[in-house]
Amino acid sequence: MKTIAITGVLGYSGRYIAQEARRRGWRVVGLTNSAGRLGNPEGWELRPMPWSTKECVLAGVDVLINTYWVRFSYGGGKHAAFSHEEAVRNTHSLFAAAQQAGVGRTIHTSITCPDATSALPYFRGKAELEAALEASGLPHSILRPAVLFGDSAQESILINNMAWSLRHLPAVATFGWGNYELQPLHVQDFAEAALDEAEQTAQHRIIHATGTERYSFRELWKLLAHAMGIRRFILPVPGSIGYAATSVLGYFMNDIMLTRDEIRGLCENRLAVPGSGIGIRPLSQWVNRHADALGRTYESELARRR
Ligand SMILES: NC(=O)c1ccc[n+]([C@@H]2O[C@H](COP(=O)([O-])OP(=O)(O)OC[C@H]3O[C@@H](n4cnc5c(N)ncnc54)[C@H](OP(=O)(O)O)[C@@H]3O)[C@@H](O)[C@H]2O)c1
Repeated sequence: MKTIAITGVLGYSGRYIAQEARRRGWRVVGLTNSAGRLGNPEGWELRPMPWSTKECVLAGVDVLINTYWVRFSYGGGKHAAFSHEEAVRNTHSLFAAAQQAGVGRTIHTSITCPDATSALPYFRGKAELEAALEASGLPHSILRPAVLFGDSAQESILINNMAWSLRHLPAVATFGWGNYELQPLHVQDFAEAALDEAEQTAQHRIIHATGTERYSFRELWKLLAHAMGIRRFILPVPGSIGYAATSVLGYFMNDIMLTRDEIRGLCENRLAVPGSGIGIRPLSQWVNRHADALGRTYESELARRR
């Protein structure tokens, strides 16, 4: 039986990838630093991330799938600090460990529109890591998702918290005119794409892991509101005002709802690419199925790291 190591096996997409790998007959090794914090309800074989131990945690691993990343940099306070710079450094260590252990194939999760020249550390860091993986000589595939959703309403932070805003606020807003696009992909479609790539043999592949449906930000509000049977004004506001409003909401919810950089990334149209997308689980069907559960509770990114 071949062995696959998956980072973030206790997190969001990593858990779906691990379940899909188990279904396809792989022996799964989960890499995580959160076993103490989150427990291990699904009973995965767990090892620490390679940057937190001197152990050779990738020994005997045929394929590595990496989902590790941090959504934004955070200075600490109630929760531990984390940053994009640290995530980039750690991912370099992960690739070095894969090289050292002779891992046969690496599947790395990036983002739509990575860009080495971007002012946004998320997109710049992802571009640096794609280049590092290519330079490493490791046979690899790079998955570039835009936004993931599914399986439950609560797991889909962005979509759920948009729905929460529709339920709790008298009006919602777009940053600018809201005509920039998003191509959300169901997390199970993402997991299946990751495993398909694990079974590939090509030296270097890039997969645009975006869904088959695309929505402008304004259309996404409308899709959600319509499915939930809620009527709200959708106001176009300057990005700075929108950021101030989400910061106030975040303050009351003990969270960072959206960062200034995330709003900028959206407005720069970085969460969509040309082309028809992958997957068989369209957002519109999923939203209709989960309309009643969506937005019932606020989902906090920071609480997930507590
Ligand atoms: N979710 C989306 O909508 C989306 C959209 C576009 C691209 N992506 C990309 O897809 C990949 C997976 O996303 P995901 O949402 O499934 O990730 P996730 O589960 O939130 O995070 C994956 C793993 O990264 C580590 N991690 C996350 N935040 C951390 C923090 N603040 N400090 C330290 N470690 C942290 C955790 O490892 P431990 O197990 O050690 O805790 C976690 O299990 C990422 O590379 C992301 O950039 C995701």
